[in-house]
Amino acid sequence: MKKAWWHDKIAYQIYPKSFYDSNGDGIGDLPGIISKLDYLKDLGVDILWLSPIYKSPLADQGYDIADYYSIDPRFGTMEDMEHLIAEAKKRDMYILMDLVVNHCSDEHEWFQKASADPDGEYGNFFYIEDTNDERRPCNWRSYFGGSVWEPLPGRPDKQYLHVFHKKQPDLNWENPRVREEVYKNIRWWMEKGLGGFRIDAIINIKKKLPFADYPVDREDGFSDIGNMLADAEGVGEFLGEMAREAFRPYDAFTVGEVCNEKEDEIKNFIGEDGYFSSMFDFCGTCYGKSDKGWYDSKPYLTPEEYKSCIFKTQKKVGDIGMVSNIIENHDEPRGVSHYIRPEDLCEDSKKLLAGVYFLLKGMPFLYQGQEIGMENVAFESLGDVDDISTLDEYQVALKAGMKPEEAFKAVIAFSRDNARTPMQWNDSENAGFTVGTPWLKVNPNYKSINVEAQEKSEASVLSFYKKLTALRRDPEYKETLVYGDFEAYLEEEENLIGYYRIGDRKVLVLANFQKEERGVKLPGEVRKILINNQEGLDINAGGVVLSGFQMVALEIL
Ligand code: GLC
Ligand code: CA
Repeated sequence: MKKAWWHDKIAYQIYPKSFYDSNGDGIGDLPGIISKLDYLKDLGVDILWLSPIYKSPLADQGYDIADYYSIDPRFGTMEDMEHLIAEAKKRDMYILMDLVVNHCSDEHEWFQKASADPDGEYGNFFYIEDTNDERRPCNWRSYFGGSVWEPLPGRPDKQYLHVFHKKQPDLNWENPRVREEVYKNIRWWMEKGLGGFRIDAIINIKKKLPFADYPVDREDGFSDIGNMLADAEGVGEFLGEMAREAFRPYDAFTVGEVCNEKEDEIKNFIGEDGYFSSMFDFCGTCYGKSDKGWYDSKPYLTPEEYKSCIFKTQKKVGDIGMVSNIIENHDEPRGVSHYIRPEDLCEDSKKLLAGVYFLLKGMPFLYQGQEIGMENVAFESLGDVDDISTLDEYQVALKAGMKPEEAFKAVIAFSRDNARTPMQWNDSENAGFTVGTPWLKVNPNYKSINVEAQEKSEASVLSFYKKLTALRRDPEYKETLVYGDFEAYLEEEENLIGYYRIGDRKVLVLANFQKEERGVKLPGEVRKILINNQEGLDINAGGVVLSGFQMVALEIL
């Protein structure tokens, strides 16, 4: 693998709205992030990905951009942003912005102009068709429910396409003018000193044209967008062009939100001359999701299911490139609530999960609050939920015949708001996130789960994450942990997650993902215990005895 500057870095996702509020309006902001840079440095992360902070009506929390060149005043000013980039640089840290270019906001000037004059220049920035509700160009279902077609404001004879919310009209990537605008924007931000971008929902930029129906797959009469995407060819041409025109000249680090690539396409995406530097591994995210909707999906995975997901990706990607490993993000429930069975959830199992995913081959990404083991929220009613996706999935559950209470219970485990509640800094009111009223209620468990308490304890989840980041930086093991091959170990043993990282050293990761202790045979002599989520390790002649939920990384001779 040709070496790149970002290979040995550790990334951290900030959801700005919920990170830290510096001025008491209940909304996290850029000065708030700046004030926490030392905390992040101390945690041992280098790359900070910020979910969108551009000017936006926040219909989808900033993933609906009204101006790509300005900061939403709720988050701060352009000076704050420049200050953040500079302060990060001082600490050898890098800032990633979120590149949301499958769509913009319906409040973006382009869309306003397109609505006023659909036959003019900007009409072609979007997909606008002569049509109405009775005869739509196709039957695709929007990701947030209902048809992807919506009447153009003031024009009952025309509709526009939105694969997400109706306030997120899709940009027409077939139009070279649109692509040039996107590249210009990327260059403009890179000139400001960014490290790169996380690239939102990017697979959607290529539509199968002309618009046509796909098989109806729910009672609502629509068809999942995935059906169309599987058929759409040529996204690579756009992505290759974007890399050439905008990313490579700056040696940007880019990580794609890519979910449905075909297996032989991995090298095109993240190989040496790939479109992106990296892409997220969503295997565990997608596992157990039902085509019918959240209500019919699996709220958590068993250890065996989790193992099958991470191993599958590791084997598939091999030495082609670096995936980005995650257990959570702003679109998912909390990792510890999703990958650990409720009856198994404890400090040790949280650390076990941390160790297992963090030491896989690839780039570890943390999501704010993950480092203290934040959990899903015990939401009491839909009134406490803001997320548009949850509100839609609730309707889907009702339509499938569930009673309201049942429907709420079934979908709430997947709510994106589980991960969007304010960061828990300390045990003072509102978890120290704001002195005002937080935009979304704080998880009531902040009294026991917060940064301040965990900073004081050697045994905390936070301290364990610091050990993990330190291990990955350790000059003796860095080469192996960054570039070393992955090889499964005792894969068939139930509730055991074991794997090697083999580089100039041989590191064996072992995790006993169950309450009961177990003996595990070792392939060689232990030179050193590199990390251990519990005190002590029982090493005997042929192996080790791991206590319930014990996780260790051992250097093997
Ligand atoms: C991505 C984002 C998600 C957003 C969607 C539309 O999946 O991560 O939060 O709703 O794209 O932009
Ligand atoms: Ca604020």
